[in-house]
Amino acid sequence: MKIDVMVATKEHLPFVSEINDTIAAAAAARGTGISRRTDEYIADKIMQGKAIIAVNGDVFVGFCYIESWGHEKFVANSGLIVKPEYRGYGVAKRIKQAAFELSRKRFPNAKIFGLTTGEAVMRINTELGYVPVTFAKLTDDEEFWKGCQGCVNYDILQRTNMTKCLCTGMLYDPEEVAKHEAAEAEVERSAPKAHIWSKLFKKTSK
Ligand SMILES: CC(C)(COP(=O)(O)OP(=O)(O)OC[C@H]1O[C@@H](n2cnc3c(N)ncnc32)[C@H](O)[C@@H]1OP(=O)(O)O)[C@@H](O)C(=O)NCCC(=O)NCCS
Repeated sequence: MKIDVMVATKEHLPFVSEINDTIAAAAAARGTGISRRTDEYIADKIMQGKAIIAVNGDVFVGFCYIESWGHEKFVANSGLIVKPEYRGYGVAKRIKQAAFELSRKRFPNAKIFGLTTGEAVMRINTELGYVPVTFAKLTDDEEFWKGCQGCVNYDILQRTNMTKCLCTGMLYDPEEVAKHEAAEAEVERSAPKAHIWSKLFKKTSK
């Protein structure tokens, strides 16, 4: 089995119905956390170069798309799906990694986020550097939240005035990550110095 993961192009348009049917079947099986999109919406994402697809030769395996929100301040990774017979082989991980790289390339200053009820996605996101956050830290772009209307739990989101639902919001903030990395590098840099100072201190205090 050789699975290729790539940015989807117009050659992948014939898979659109299958992608949507697989998403719908997973939503029905899980009963939560997955919104249905129209075929036009999925096709549009592919044509805009905002979708990642996994294929085994000419067989559809998995999919995910990205979209920017709030004047490109945020980019969401959504619609992750792997066909049941291909699950458990690390395909979702490869798709999410590719979607992450595409998001960073297309929207380098945007915060990347996703909503999920699934442990697999939580694990993958954590590995990529996302952290769990309240919905208040995500985009307030109404168009994004309208996308939740296709989810069976939308009534919960409405009842909480769009502040909470069954999904966990996860966020990758490039600024925060850069700050964290800089702080870690500083600790690394100052560690040997601290070592010298402590040695000197020991000598002079004898
Ligand atoms: C969720 C889904 C995309 C995972 O696809 P997959 O290709 O099987 O996932 P991977 O093999 O890449 O596994 C990624 C990680 O999640 C873990 N994982 C996979 N399925 C899991 C499950 N059902 N429960 C808990 N952990 C799971 C794997 O062990 C792996 O963790 P590790 O790196 O610590 O070993 C797939 O099951 C699916 O399409 N489900 C239906 C749709 C869905 O839930 N989409 C997500 C909407 S947010």
